[in-house]
Amino acid sequence: MEQSFWHERWEKDEIGFHQVQTNRWLEEYWPQLRLAADTQVLVPLCGKSKDMLWLRERGHPVLGIELSDIACRDFFVEQGVEVAAVTVDNYHRRERDGIVLLCGDLFELPWQVFEGVGAVYDRAALVALPAPMRKRYAERLKQRLAPGCEMLLVTLEFQAEDGPPFAVNECEVRRLFEPAFVVERMATGEPYSSKRGERREIVYRLRRQ
Ligand SMILES: C[S@@+](CC[C@H](N)C(=O)[O-])C[C@H]1O[C@@H](n2cnc3c(N)ncnc32)[C@H](O)[C@@H]1O
Repeated sequence: MEQSFWHERWEKDEIGFHQVQTNRWLEEYWPQLRLAADTQVLVPLCGKSKDMLWLRERGHPVLGIELSDIACRDFFVEQGVEVAAVTVDNYHRRERDGIVLLCGDLFELPWQVFEGVGAVYDRAALVALPAPMRKRYAERLKQRLAPGCEMLLVTLEFQAEDGPPFAVNECEVRRLFEPAFVVERMATGEPYSSKRGERREIVYRLRRQ
């Protein structure tokens, strides 16, 4: 997936993936990870997700990583504040009240930015990437996350090869992440119809070994 694809989505406000409510799987399954409130949570490919506010309200310092400057700016504007971006190396950084948003390419960020991350929340990140990039994404998480790091992953299953979003089944999740992570399937959503046929969401817990 070209970066221009995502920049165009944000410029044209074609962001059907954005949820105005907190994700229900996050609310239901995050508490089962039993993380200390001060655990820093990485939200890769975060868009302007309101889920970051929910995590912050639970005490977690949040580190969001997002390609689009529009998304990073609007996340804070929608909270009623303008947060100036500071340029660091090859990305822009905005920070307020325990939420840090880095605007840049996840695959190009220096490894130091991942230091201190104790958990990951992935909703619509892995499934936003085509197969070769999903492999790079999983590799990057293996390289950057410390043993003990927990991850809540929400994927989509449906009958179609094109995307985004892309269908990612359990076999692929295990192929991508095991054995570096212990993979546990936590929940299977009810099927629902979408423009591209029947879909369902699957929730996994992953733990870095
Ligand atoms: C499907 S959206 C999901 C956003 C968010 N997770 C949510 O739940 O609303 C995928 C996001 O990933 C961003 N993105 C795509 N490739 C990226 C990359 N290489 N580095 C950082 N962000 C990227 C896009 O701009 C887009 O906002």
